[in-house]
Amino acid sequence: MRNIVILISGRGTNMQAIVNAAVEEQWACRIAAVISSRADAEGLVFAAGLQIPVTVVASKDHPSRDSFDAALLAAIEPYAPDLVVLAGFMRILTPRFVEHYQGRMINIHPSLLPRFPGLATHRQALTAGVTEHGATVHFVTADLDHGPVIAQAMVVVEKGDTEQVLSDRVLQQEHLLYPQVVRWFIDGRLSLHDGQVLLAPEFTGAA
Ligand code: GAR
Repeated sequence: MRNIVILISGRGTNMQAIVNAAVEEQWACRIAAVISSRADAEGLVFAAGLQIPVTVVASKDHPSRDSFDAALLAAIEPYAPDLVVLAGFMRILTPRFVEHYQGRMINIHPSLLPRFPGLATHRQALTAGVTEHGATVHFVTADLDHGPVIAQAMVVVEKGDTEQVLSDRVLQQEHLLYPQVVRWFIDGRLSLHDGQVLLAPEFTGAA
């Protein structure tokens, strides 16, 4: 049984989509813990309601990145994670921390990377006037929002879209994309080799 630890900072709808898919599709894994960088993260209520162990490693208690990441590592490690899932986790992690989880930590970002890294991605997309936007799931590397891309979901930017409308459209796709990618990993199909993403074909049992 593989262990997944999910890190959040806010409402946690991606975390919910993953947890719901894991339950409904009976994945061979345990959502071992949900850890938040904010005590008031709404997502904690959902996780605790399902008896998933929840922990808070509060950004505000750690003035330095090193101190935060050491506390985060200490919170995660007891759960022996096979996969660490960043789901709206709004912290920049130190290279040392990222290195520790190399090949077993993934992130979702609300843009078609490499376009629009960083914050306010929907505003960036509208300002740039792109006609296609979306979300990306990638392995996490020390290079913020630039790790090897695993999968992307695209949406069309409609005339008159506001930031909110576009954000909602992308989020709907995130909720389909992220559970799919986590499932690939749980099924042993997804891996990172020498910086390259490998996705093995689905085993159908057919000769
Ligand atoms: C999601 O849109 C996710 O892609 C984004 O934060 C939101 C979290 O929503 N992540 C980032 O911007 C990371 N760079 P959620 O808490 O409802 O899942």
